[in-house]
Amino acid sequence: MTDFHFYEPGKGHGLPHDPFKAIVGPRPIGWISTQDGDGRVNLAPYSFFGAFKSDPPVIGFCSEGYKDSIANIERTGEFVANLAVRALAEAMNLTSAPFPSDVDEMRAAGLTAAPCIRVAAPRVAESPAALECRLMQIVRLQGLDGRPFDNYLALGQVVGVHIDTHFLSDGLFDTRRADPILRAGYRGDYATIGDMFEMIRPESVPPEIAAIS
Ligand SMILES: Cc1cc2nc3c(=O)[nH]c(=O)nc-3n(C[C@H](O)[C@H](O)[C@H](O)COP(=O)(O)O)c2cc1C
Repeated sequence: MTDFHFYEPGKGHGLPHDPFKAIVGPRPIGWISTQDGDGRVNLAPYSFFGAFKSDPPVIGFCSEGYKDSIANIERTGEFVANLAVRALAEAMNLTSAPFPSDVDEMRAAGLTAAPCIRVAAPRVAESPAALECRLMQIVRLQGLDGRPFDNYLALGQVVGVHIDTHFLSDGLFDTRRADPILRAGYRGDYATIGDMFEMIRPESVPPEIAAIS
């Protein structure tokens, strides 16, 4: 039998560092641009980020604490998720610094604000792709005991998609060329996509499997 280390998170992991984010990784990074009520731009990366459905597309991210991005989204009802890529890694990282609320992190990181079409918040012009979103819900997470966590999940329906045509090859978005960065491992660890392989989903249960199940 293989030996497994088991722990219950509430009772400590018993390891030098918490392995949770190394297990649930690599994770895509939603580089979230918003505006506050006065039109000031905010930009910050979130790796508790994902896509939840495709037609229409829905994406979301979770804030650990009530951060500026969530406050802005609650106020304006919209946000933009920009693709964080290797060429913009240092800029992305800089935008995670604890800037005061009134600082435009897009400008502070030397990035260019490009106008969006369906939302007022700008996108990062240098990013190969951006998803304009309208807020569906902000869900304040609550624990098993029913008590609220200080964690806020923002879910947005994608209402506009920008793709830099330089990253379209024969009409397909070239993920490898875009080179997204992913949060992985422990503090400061990132991954890029590495190898890709193709595997087509079965349209029916293979007969030899059906026979034994
Ligand atoms: C790669 C990366 C991923 C991050 N993911 C999250 C996340 O999922 N949730 C979170 O609350 N903070 C996350 N942070 C930290 C926020 O980016 C940071 O607190 C930032 O200052 C929040 O900005 P805001 O207050 O303008 O929204 C992440 C930071 C980095 C560098």
